[in-house]
Parts: sequence; structure tokens; C-alpha cells
Amino acid sequence: MTEILAINSDNIQRAAQAIKVGELVAMPTETVYGLAADATNDEAVRRIYDAKGRPSFNPLIIHLNDLKQAQKWGGFNAQALMLAQAFWPGPLTLIVPKKENTGLSDLVTAGLETVAIRVPGHDVARALIEASHVPLAAPSANKSGSISPTTPAHVHEGLNGDVAYILAGGACDVGLESTIVDCSADAPVILRHGGVTVSQIADKLACNEVDLVTQNIDEDKPKSPGLLLKHYSPSIPVRLRALDVNADEALLAFGSTKFMSLKGGGRVDDLAEGQLLNLSEAGDLYEAASNLFSMMRILDKPYHRAIAVMDIPNTGIGVAINDRLKRASAS
Ligand code: TXA
Ligand code: MG
Repeated sequence: MTEILAINSDNIQRAAQAIKVGELVAMPTETVYGLAADATNDEAVRRIYDAKGRPSFNPLIIHLNDLKQAQKWGGFNAQALMLAQAFWPGPLTLIVPKKENTGLSDLVTAGLETVAIRVPGHDVARALIEASHVPLAAPSANKSGSISPTTPAHVHEGLNGDVAYILAGGACDVGLESTIVDCSADAPVILRHGGVTVSQIADKLACNEVDLVTQNIDEDKPKSPGLLLKHYSPSIPVRLRALDVNADEALLAFGSTKFMSLKGGGRVDDLAEGQLLNLSEAGDLYEAASNLFSMMRILDKPYHRAIAVMDIPNTGIGVAINDRLKRASAS
């Protein structure tokens, strides 16, 4: 049985109690909802993999409340320190060398010598970490391969019965997962685009944006096991950079739809209710990011032949949006 908890201090304590006895709790973070468990408890971590149907070679991120706590579990070089100081708490995950004999469950790192660490900025996640007194291993709270949840209802849809509690903390602000930067070697590399942009990271490290991303192109040897997998997928096809829309498709718009045409004649405004959603009428990329997953879920209906998505500018957080859309459209 999954219980949905309103946010108050008693319920945070109840959730922390569940964590301590090895159960799973879904918690809001500023990026997406996480499926949290005690990262030092093998049995609890195994439950995460089971609930998600996640392959055991795909490691998890641990969540802590500050850099000092993080340094107990991983080693931070100069660049990792700079990024942590600049962007924590926030939507940034750092991959750093794992420290030995800390008590971290080996299942968390899936046999790697590195560990992924994030310090979230969401009050509820922070309160749960504090009350639990352990690092929380937490992947996105969805079944492996489906779209990450940005509301408690999304979590319930996918994992009802698999988690003890869902902390119902409303919709997530950022709406996309954290940016992952591998700082385990001399040259930092962005493994996943997300809430912190490439230019923000390049600025902090005083390096070139290209150097941060081009080293990640060895497809045969991906550094982040999870990025191999098909991800973020709706059950119907996704058609990108659409300039027009078919009458039997749904349209995910961005900005003005004035120049979009309806194939066979007519205007986009003629589409039925529930067939057209706009990520951001004002063309604001941050608003679009926070709406992306929930709007894809709404349009993902078997009676639409596909979701046509208008072009999203590939700048700032638009890079992360386009990354998720590309994965969603891959068949
Ligand atoms: O925003 C987020 O990061 C959310 C919230 C809940 O914090 N979490 C999240 O976790 O997106 P997940 O498990 O869905 O994605 C984590 C990614 C996976 O692709 C995994 O392969 C990668 O991080 N990862 C974890 N540990 C790693 C490591 N040591 N080296 C390389 N990649 C790692
Ligand atoms: Mg995920």
C-alpha cells in the first residue's frame, strides 16, 4: 500500500522512519521526483532497482545536504569543488571518485569506482535527508524507460504499491533532471544535459563549452551507463521540428503558432481540446522545461497518431529540452 503524505514535519519524520527501516519513499526535488532509499542499506537499494525494473548495471545518484557531507563519500578535485560551490544546492550532479569503506552499498555504484552525488535545493528533499541521517540513493521515481515524474500524481501512476510513501510536494520547478558532470578525471565532461546549462558550467570553470561536451562522443564506451538506454519515451511516436500538424496528431507547441499550418487545410486553433498544448506561449525556455514532461504525458494518448513538436531553440536549457525530445523520438 502506498500512502500519500501532505508536507508537514510529522510526515517528514514518518517518511524518515520508513527510510531507516529500508523502505522506499518518493520525494520531490527541484528537478523531478526521486525514489529514495537508504544508500547504505543493500536491501533498500535493491528495492529501488526492483520497483523501477532498472537494470542493475545502471548506478544511482546519492543525495546529501551539503558539500561537507558529500566529501565523506567522494573525493573532490579543484574543478569539482568549484562546481559544487557554485551550483549546490541545485540541479547539478557530480561524478567523483568513490571513497573506500564508507558503508555505501555497492549496488548504488553498480561496480564503478566513481559515485554520483547531488545536493538538492528542494526544502522537502533536504528535510528528508536531514531527518534520515543517511545519504539517499534516488533515481527518478518512474518505471525504467518511461518519462520522469514532475508531480505526485505522476509518481502514483507509475509506482503505486511499490513505495511506502509519496511526499506530495506539488510540481517540480525545473522539470528536467539534473545536469551530470563527470569530474573523476582531469578534464570535466558533461554526461547529461539538465537544469544547469553548458555555458553556466563553462563560465565557472573558465573553459570552452565545446571541450565540456565533445569528449563524450565515444558511443561504444559511454561513461554514464544509463544514457545507453532508451529513455523518456511516450507510447506514441514523437515528430520533431514540426512545421505543420496532421489532423490526427497532437501538437506540442512552443511560442507563437501563427505560422503553423494544419495539413489538409484549416488553422492550428481548430485542433480539438486536448490536442494542442503550448510549452510556453511567451517562448520562455525555463517555462518550457518545467512543462515538458507533464505535457508529453497528457498528449501521450493512443488516439493520437503521434506528437508533433515545434522547434525549440538549442540554447541555454533548450539543449537539455532537445536532448530529452531526441530520446523520446528515438524508436
Ligand atoms: O535530477 C536528477 O538527477 C534526479 C533527481 C531525483 O535527483 N535523479 C535522476 O536519477 O535523474 P536517474 O537515476 O534517473 O539518473 C541518473 C543517471 C543515470 O543515467 C546513471 O547511469 C547516471 O546518472 N550515473 C549514476 N552514477 C553514475 C556514475 N558513477 N558514473 C556515471 N554515471 C552515473
Ligand atoms: Mg531516470
